[in-house]
Amino acid sequence: MAKARIQFICQNCGAVHTRWAGKCDSCGEWNTLVEEGTAGGIGSGPGKLSGRKGRAVALTSLSGEIEDAPRIQSGIGELDRVTGGGFVRGSAILVGGDPGIGKSTLLTQAAAALARQGHKVIYVSGEEAVAQIRLRAQRLHAADTDVLLAAETNVEDILATISDSKRPDLIIIDSIQTLWTDAADSAPGTVTQVRAGAQAMIRFAKQTGAAVVLVGHVTKDGQIAGPRVVEHMVDAVLYFEGEGGHHYRILRTVKNRFGPTDEIGVFEMSDRGLREVANPSELFLGERNDKSPGAAVFAGMEGTRPVLVEIQALVAPSTLGTPRRAVVGWDGGRLSMILAVLEAHCGVRFGQHDVYLNVAGGYRISEPAADLAVASALVSSIAGIALPADCVYFGEVSLSGAVRPVAHAVQRLKEAEKLGFKQAVLPKGSNDVPKGRNAHLTETASLPDLVARIAA
Ligand code: TYD
Ligand code: MG
Repeated sequence: MAKARIQFICQNCGAVHTRWAGKCDSCGEWNTLVEEGTAGGIGSGPGKLSGRKGRAVALTSLSGEIEDAPRIQSGIGELDRVTGGGFVRGSAILVGGDPGIGKSTLLTQAAAALARQGHKVIYVSGEEAVAQIRLRAQRLHAADTDVLLAAETNVEDILATISDSKRPDLIIIDSIQTLWTDAADSAPGTVTQVRAGAQAMIRFAKQTGAAVVLVGHVTKDGQIAGPRVVEHMVDAVLYFEGEGGHHYRILRTVKNRFGPTDEIGVFEMSDRGLREVANPSELFLGERNDKSPGAAVFAGMEGTRPVLVEIQALVAPSTLGTPRRAVVGWDGGRLSMILAVLEAHCGVRFGQHDVYLNVAGGYRISEPAADLAVASALVSSIAGIALPADCVYFGEVSLSGAVRPVAHAVQRLKEAEKLGFKQAVLPKGSNDVPKGRNAHLTETASLPDLVARIAA
């Protein structure tokens, strides 16, 4: 019998301490340590003296067993792409996002889609009553599917409920913050409870081969509230995000043991639920005013998918002692760098000007490949010269003013061509760009060279 022991758990990062302290050594947060006793239940692995015998299998013998559909595809293309080709049987996925962003909506739609294909899906909600879930399902036109609904928050009850129904394919737990187990005596929502609950669900997934989706709410600073620890336990972490005031949502992979981690899925929230956006470029390009200076279209990549977005710059004479620099959708530090390079190597002076930079549609760019498009937009705005409307830009700018090649040049060009763009400005020496395929490719090796072209 394991001895009951007292330990202190950081409610921010989940680190376990043997004695109380004002500050967590692990994450540096103050006043986050909470005393918790473990009675040898969930979460107390070591300490057992006699173990049960397991079964070791040869790697080569597995090929036959795994063949039968290790993945469950929802048929919602944007979701399947982000999961790396469907939910993996026996795996656990964490879907995080701000409250109200549409996690329950997305998973209700996924549940309905899977149920229509004959998969057995159980939707366990700790936040809404069964009647409320049904109401939502009706609005999403998903009420006619045989998804099993349960309104439970106790882990033991949930396990009893889902074990009762024969071999479920997918279990959705909405949300892990509502889970609590008898084995831990702290309040629901604490790290101990969330971790114990998640652990129990993950164990169930591994034992039965069902895919488990855990929904988690995220705090303002982007951390999954409390259960950051859960991120390490699950096989994949997806974030559902959206900009305030815009009705589209982006599902992003943060971690994936069974697939790529840089994929995005794009959805649009409508009155009848989430709609897939198969061609995000059209959404982010929006309504473009071809004639205005300061706009440049960036040919970007999100995972395996090219995405075109418009970058808008406004450079205006400043009345302030220290001119303003404001950025939406891009890194402010990176903007300062591009401005410095333009000043130092191209003779473009921004010292007396306010600079505003906006990525259209509320989209966020993290790729350095956007440097060239940003620089072009800035030069276009300060010079008052509109860039060609049918031209895309991509390339990384270094501090010396050199333009460096970036990956996936061919895919970026193909997407641009597909959307009717006829010209492109790209780094000299970009890999495998077929020479002469597009007569309007401008290869540039340095920023001064590009600035001279725009001004010409
Ligand atoms: P929800 O899925 O409940 O968010 P979460 O589970 O992430 O907290 O989504 C709630 C929001 O979505 C709410 O503001 C209303 C909106 N919504 C629609 O616009 N259309 C719909 O069909 C549905 C179901 C929700
Ligand atoms: Mg919800």
